[in-house]
Amino acid sequence: MCGIVGYIGKKQAAPIILDGLAKLEYRGYDSAGMAVFDGEKVNITKAVGRLKVLEELTHGGETMPGFAGIGHTRWATHGAPNDVNSHPHFNKDRTITVVHNGIIENYIPLRNKLIKKGYEFVSETDTEVVAQMLDYYYNGNPLDTILKVLHRIEGSYALGMMFADHPGEIFAARKGSPLIVGQSKEGCFIASDVPAILRYTRKVYFVDEQEVVRLETDHMHFYTLDEEEVEKEATTIEWDADAAEKAGYEHFMLKEMYEQPKTVTDTLLPRIKNGKIEIEELGLSDEEIAAIKKIHIVACGSAYHAGVTGKYVLEGLARIPVEVDLASEFRYRDPILEEGAMVIAISQSGETADTLAAIRESRQRGFKVLGIVNVVGSSIARESDNVMYTWAGPEIAVATTKAYSAQLIALYLLAVKFASVKKTIDEKLYQLLLRDLKRLPDQIELLLNNKEKIQHFANRYIGARDVFFIGRGIDYAISLEGSLKLKEISYIHSEAYAAGELKHGTISLIEEGTLVAAVSTQPALYQKMISNMVEVKARGAFLLAVTNEGNKEIEKVSDYVIYIPETNPYFSNSLAIIPLQLFGYYVAVGKGCDVDKPRNLAKSVTVE
Ligand code: AGP
Repeated sequence: MCGIVGYIGKKQAAPIILDGLAKLEYRGYDSAGMAVFDGEKVNITKAVGRLKVLEELTHGGETMPGFAGIGHTRWATHGAPNDVNSHPHFNKDRTITVVHNGIIENYIPLRNKLIKKGYEFVSETDTEVVAQMLDYYYNGNPLDTILKVLHRIEGSYALGMMFADHPGEIFAARKGSPLIVGQSKEGCFIASDVPAILRYTRKVYFVDEQEVVRLETDHMHFYTLDEEEVEKEATTIEWDADAAEKAGYEHFMLKEMYEQPKTVTDTLLPRIKNGKIEIEELGLSDEEIAAIKKIHIVACGSAYHAGVTGKYVLEGLARIPVEVDLASEFRYRDPILEEGAMVIAISQSGETADTLAAIRESRQRGFKVLGIVNVVGSSIARESDNVMYTWAGPEIAVATTKAYSAQLIALYLLAVKFASVKKTIDEKLYQLLLRDLKRLPDQIELLLNNKEKIQHFANRYIGARDVFFIGRGIDYAISLEGSLKLKEISYIHSEAYAAGELKHGTISLIEEGTLVAAVSTQPALYQKMISNMVEVKARGAFLLAVTNEGNKEIEKVSDYVIYIPETNPYFSNSLAIIPLQLFGYYVAVGKGCDVDKPRNLAKSVTVE
């Protein structure tokens, strides 16, 4: 998604903006630009392509002197990626400039209305309408003008704005798209996300829905759409700047894979006290837990895959019916939510528009929502009734790994907690489950440290055309994630299939040498899996098996076997995913793909 950075203070604005935009590159973009007030007028420079094009054009910001500015990296939604469509957008005499993340859904009627009043538009974007509307309503009072415009636009926005006749101020506003503001001794900042300004300040404020912020060099004022000034609490960011850097790894994705033992530990251990699972942030008493009749999980992408795993674990241990929906489907299928239902929304970024919409739909119908979220203070975190954070720290690579693993842990904790409250497990099993949960970080570390075998195997499949991932039960859930990891970063076509389903059509695609990754970690299903593996082998497939240590029989039908340590079958996805992540990573590296910023993808999909 687009990235926004703004600054007003005692230092040169342009270098700070460029540095901040560089920290937001992970959000995905295709052009960049910035506007800086030089004391008399606003200078604007925009460039299609990577941020370094803008850096070179402005000599690192030197050609744009000034103490107040706004900058933007654009992920094209309306209008092709080119200089004209990139941000900032401005009014005719360039006295008003705007950067925007989101979608103005009613921009066409608004643009037509302004054209009738003699306005001319130079770009194809929805954002330019905001700049021209600010011009149209401008009465010399920026805040008043901004509020007039915000009352008339529909859709989502995170905005940075500047008014040349008010050089001592910059403005921000948000609805539906993430936005934070920060403060240091040197000035005040606007940003789409914390890493952009963490180098300058740890003191940030998460801008709330339909809030407007006026920023000056040494303070900020927050307003509602009714122009009421509101006080806000600052959040102090705990994680340090280099946590958002690569720390010596070739890619953020590899670094984040290797952080998984820690993120699993950080998500798990604070919630196990004196041999019991305690999830204070759950906001549910034991009586309320006992009364849960159904759970609806809504999420997208990998978070959805974690939800599919969650279904097997929650139903298996706590015997609560679980329905898992792609968030983008949920509210359009008029879901049946009955009394006693609870909704769980899973999201790493906490800004995924589809998941946010599913939350709003659920709450509108009177159902409580538990968010399982990684980004503190994100929209989903703040719009859920209760939030269970996955303490994975900033995840920069577009392809999620450590946050996904932390989501699994959160779901295991819920399942074991609910099972204990509903007495569907006895104390002995409860303690065995806790023991196996606590072993996971070391087992993950072991798999990561034995990466050579999977790395060697991956190098043989750089030229693959189609790869299939198959599994039964909870192994089907992990096949979904293994398949997504491969395709989203290596661009190789891949599909995940319930192993028993292959013969209902897809097996016709198996040719000589087609790679099939068979995940078999459920002892009760070992034999069934072997049958399915024989089926594809008979048609020429090359079989990679991911299975538990000790399952030697599988070697008879496999061409290559990756063993994972023994754990409770309900938790095996946390281990099986490691070789699958490494496989996708090394294939993508071997193909020379941009692993951390895959084509067409964004880290947070804040539009529907
Ligand atoms: C996963 O590798 C992808 N980047 C993508 O599927 C992601 O999981 C999905 O967009 C959901 O994002 P969220 O967890 O931030 O809501």
